[in-house]
Amino acid sequence: MSNDKYQLSNLTTGKTSDLETLSGTVGPDVINISSLWRDHGVFTFDPGFMATASTASRITFIDGDAGTLLYRGYPIEQLAAQSHFLEVSYLLLKGELPDAAELDSFTHSITRHTMLNAALLRLYGGFHHDAHPMAMVAAILASLAAFYHDTTNIHDDRHREIFSHRMIAKIPTIAAAAYKHTVGQPFIYPRNDLDYCSNMLHMFFAVPCESYTVDPLHAKALDLLFILHADHEQNASTATVRLAGSTGCNPYAAISAGVSALWGPAHGGANEAVLDMLEKIGDVSHVPEFLTRVKDKAGSVRLMGFGHRVYKNFDPRATIIREMCHQVLAKLGQANNPLFELALRLEESALKDDYFISRKLYPNIDFYSGIIYLALGIPRSMFTVMFAIARSAGWVAHWYEMIADPEWKIARPRQLYTGAVKRDYVPVKKC
Ligand code: CMC
Repeated sequence: MSNDKYQLSNLTTGKTSDLETLSGTVGPDVINISSLWRDHGVFTFDPGFMATASTASRITFIDGDAGTLLYRGYPIEQLAAQSHFLEVSYLLLKGELPDAAELDSFTHSITRHTMLNAALLRLYGGFHHDAHPMAMVAAILASLAAFYHDTTNIHDDRHREIFSHRMIAKIPTIAAAAYKHTVGQPFIYPRNDLDYCSNMLHMFFAVPCESYTVDPLHAKALDLLFILHADHEQNASTATVRLAGSTGCNPYAAISAGVSALWGPAHGGANEAVLDMLEKIGDVSHVPEFLTRVKDKAGSVRLMGFGHRVYKNFDPRATIIREMCHQVLAKLGQANNPLFELALRLEESALKDDYFISRKLYPNIDFYSGIIYLALGIPRSMFTVMFAIARSAGWVAHWYEMIADPEWKIARPRQLYTGAVKRDYVPVKKC
C-alpha cells in the first residue's frame, strides 16, 4: 500500500480532480477513475485491460514479478502438495478451508449432483462425430439453463449454492459424454463410490462390455492438474463469466460464455496448440530453426505455452507441472517420452535466447500440461475441456462473489469511436 496521491488536470481548462486511491490487502494500489466521465467528460482507454482492474475480489492473488499465486491466501505450492481438488473448490467458493464435516457434506453434495438429465443426453446426438468437444461442452452447459430454471433465482442464496454444486459436479459428466460421442462409444454413467477424478476417468475410459479399474496414479495426477488450473483471478474466461453474469443472465449461460472464451489458443486452447507445435517441430534438431521463425516479426508463429500477461518471472504452476511431468512419466514407464524431451530442449533454448529474456517470456501452465494429459491417455481435443472442468470451480466462485455483492452493477465498457460521423442514408437506386 502506498500513500501516493493522484490528480487529473485538464491543461486546457485548468480543471483538476483528486483521484481516490484504493488499496487491497496486497498488490498494487488502484486509482478509482469512475468519476472521470461525470467530472471531466472523458473516458480512459486501455485496450486489453493492460492497466485496468475490472473488479475488487477476495479470491485469488497473483504477483507476476515474484511468481506468486495464492488461492484465498494459501500458496499454490502448499495446496498442490497437501490438498485435493474438491477441498480447493470449497476454499475458492467459501473463502476458508473446510473442517472435516464441511468437507464431507460438500463432497457428498458434489457426488450426488453428477447425473445428467436423460433428455440432455439426447442433445449430443445432434452433433457431428468430429465436432470439437469444447463446442459440445459450451452448448450443453448453456442448455442446462433450460433444465434447472427452477433453482436459478440468482437472488436466492440457496439457489446460488445449488447452482455452484451442480456446475462443479456435472461438468466432468458433460465432458465425458462429449468424449464418448466423438469416439462413438456409449455414455458411461457416473459412479458415486469414486472420488471426483477417478469418476471422471471412469466415465471417459470404461466401456459396458468389460470392467475398468481406474489407476490411482492417473487420478492423483489429474487431481493435481485440476488444483493448478482451478482459478487465476481475472483471466479472460473468468472476466467473461463475470461480464455475462453481470447482466443477471442464467448462471449456466454465463459459465458457457466462459468456456467459449477459454477455448482460444491465447488462453486455455494453448495446451492443445503446444502439442500441435511440438509435433510440427518433430525433432530436437529442428528447435533452432523453429525459434528463428518465432522471432521473425514478419511471421505470426508464437512459441505456444510461453508468455503470460501477468507473470513476468516464472509461472509457479509451470514449475510444479514440469516436476510432475518428470514424476508421472517415470511412474508410467515413459521417462524417455520424446515429446517431453523435445519440450525440455525447447524450453532450455528459449530461456537462453535474448528474444525471450528481454520480453520476460517464460513457460506457462500450458507448456507441459498436454504432455501429462497425453500420457494419461486423454486425447488432444479434450485438453482444453480438462482445463474447463478445473476452472469451473474458479468461474463459479467469481460468479458467486459478484452476484452476492450488494454493489453489483452490469459491466458496460465504453469505447473510443473511430467510425463514420453522422451522414444521410442514400437509397440503393440513387447510387
Ligand atoms: N512467442 C513469441 N513471442 C511472444 C510470445 C510467444 N509465446 N508471447 C509474447 N510474445 C512477444 C510478443 O510478440 C510481443 O513482442 P513485441 O514486444 O516485440 O511486439 C511481446 O512478447 C509481448 O507480447 P504480447 O502479445 O503483447 O503479450 P500479452 O500479455 O498480450 O499476451 C499471451 C500474453 C499469453 C497471450 C502471449 O504471451 C501468448 O500468445 N502466448 C502463447 C499462448 C499461450 O501460451 N497462452 C497460454 C497462457 S497461460 C494459460 C492461460 O491463462 O490460459
